[in-house]
Formats: sequence, structure tokens, C-alpha cells
Amino acid sequence: MAYKTIVVELDDHVAVIKLNRPDALNALSTAMLREIVQALREADDNEKVRCIVLTGSEKAFAAGADIGEMAEMSFAEVFGSDLYGPEAQAIVRCRKPVIAAVSGYALGGGCELALMCDFIIASESAKFGQPEVNLGIIAGMGGTQRLTRAVGKAKAMDMHLTGRFMDAAEAERAGLVARVVPAKKLMDEAMAAAHKIAEKSQLALLAAKESVNRAFETPQAEGILHERRLFQSLFATEDQSEGMQAFLDKREAQFRDR
Ligand code: HXC
Repeated sequence: MAYKTIVVELDDHVAVIKLNRPDALNALSTAMLREIVQALREADDNEKVRCIVLTGSEKAFAAGADIGEMAEMSFAEVFGSDLYGPEAQAIVRCRKPVIAAVSGYALGGGCELALMCDFIIASESAKFGQPEVNLGIIAGMGGTQRLTRAVGKAKAMDMHLTGRFMDAAEAERAGLVARVVPAKKLMDEAMAAAHKIAEKSQLALLAAKESVNRAFETPQAEGILHERRLFQSLFATEDQSEGMQAFLDKREAQFRDR
């Protein structure tokens, strides 16, 4: 499918979705969010795709929701249309692993979009922020919830109340990002991680993603029970037999997603 605001490429088993509105620092318009949703759905449905990398440009992952689009909107329009809500829900429904490769600004909705991914690999130039307060609004795509779970109340409050940006080193210390690499190495690192994930059993990946996400949705005892049931159910797969036999045979496993 031809997209106007993103570029999608397939590199072996990895789909790369690149936000592409350079003139607006990849500000997230409704059109762009819908294209991201469509591209994620296509990647989820494409049997060849085993991992997805979502990225922007060196200067900006995304500098937030499109302020030009929102500026004239009334409460009735924003509430009535549930602005950006259905798109945000659809993005987190993607079942395959999604890595955010973040360079430059990840602000407002851009920070929230990165937080919707399974983990973030950041370049040393990355800057995260929730500066909505400067516009007289607050985050609206999960930023008060996901950022707080990621970095804790103190830093989440600091960012949401002051609007200050967090650099990559602080983001790594705070647990917001999984890895920080030099800007020039960002895509190499993200693609290497994605290709590594692509080698695994798809069934184990689905179970791992679902189970980690449960940690944010249920009491711990329920999450642990869910994990145990998924762990046990994976013993019904050929990939479990293959993975363990390959280890014992001292060879690489050949997973077949069965
Ligand atoms: C629309 C944006 C934009 C945005 C940047 N641009 N951010 N357009 N929406 N969020 C545009 C600018 O208008 C400008 O266009 C061009 O991108 C380059 O931006 P500059 O400001 O000239 O660049 P620079 O001086 O380098 O400053 C970079 C910046 C700044 C610090 C990132 O652009 C900035 O503060 N942007 C807004 C960040 C923000 O407030 N994000 C939160 C948005 S609200 P022209 O045409 O002038 O060249 C949000 C709510 C989410 O995200 C919740 C939804 C439910």
C-alpha cells in the first residue's frame, strides 16, 4: 500500500516503519497515525514479518501530536471524535514485537508512541518529554500512565508538570529506554535486535509479549498465574521440543512456529 506520511520497508523478516513528515518534525497528524495503524496491521497479518521497527529521522522520532491540527478544535470535536484514541488503541493491539528506534525529539504524542512500543532503543541525541502543559493541555495517548509506570512518579510528575525534556542518558537511568547507542549506530542496533528476535519461535514471542504486558494490567498473583499457564501451554508446541533438543544437540534451533 502507498503511504503519504510514512515509509514502510521489509528487510528479510523485519518490517521498518519510518515516520516521514520531516518539515513538521514528524508531528503526528490523524492521517499519519492512521497510516501507522494500517502499516502495523499489515505487518501483523504478513506471515513473513516477525518483528517491527518503528523509527523517525535523526532529528525527530516525533515532536508530538500535530498542534496545527488541534489548535482550532473545540471540546465537542475532540471528545466527540475521541481524537487519536482509536488509533492509539489499535497501535497497542499489534501482537508482534515492536521496537521503537528513537533519535532526536520524542515529545508529547511522540513520547507516548515510543512508550506504546515494546521497548525503546535510543540514540545519544534522543530527547523525551511531555510538554503538553506548555500548550494548556495534558498527555492524551497514555503518557500519564505509561511514563509513570516506566520511570516512577517523581520523574513522571517532573516531566508532565514542568514540560522539561529528559536526555538519553537520564532516560536509560530511569528505565524509560532499554539501550542507548551513538546516533550513527541506532538503526544497526535496532535492526540487529529485530533480526535476533525474528529468529525465535513466534509462539514464544507472542506469549512473552502478552505476559509482560499483563504486569501492567493485573494484580501480580494473576499475572504470575497467567504466565505459568502460558509457560505450560508452550510445552504443547513443536518449537519447545525443537528448542530444547537443539540445545542438547549443541546446534541452532530451527523454529517453525508450531
Ligand atoms: C505541528 C510541529 C510540531 C508539532 C514541530 N513542528 N513540532 N508542527 N505539531 N507538535 C513544526 C514547527 O511548527 C516547524 O514548522 C517545524 O516543525 C520545525 O520546528 P521548529 O520549532 O522550528 O524546530 P526547533 O526550533 O528545532 O524546535 C524543535 C522543538 C519544537 C523543540 C521540537 O518544534 C517544539 O517545541 N515542538 C512542539 C513540541 C510539543 O509541544 N509537543 C507536544 C504536542 S501536544 P515550520 O512550518 O514553522 O517550519 C501532544 C498531545 C498528545 O503531543 C496527546 C494526543 C491525544
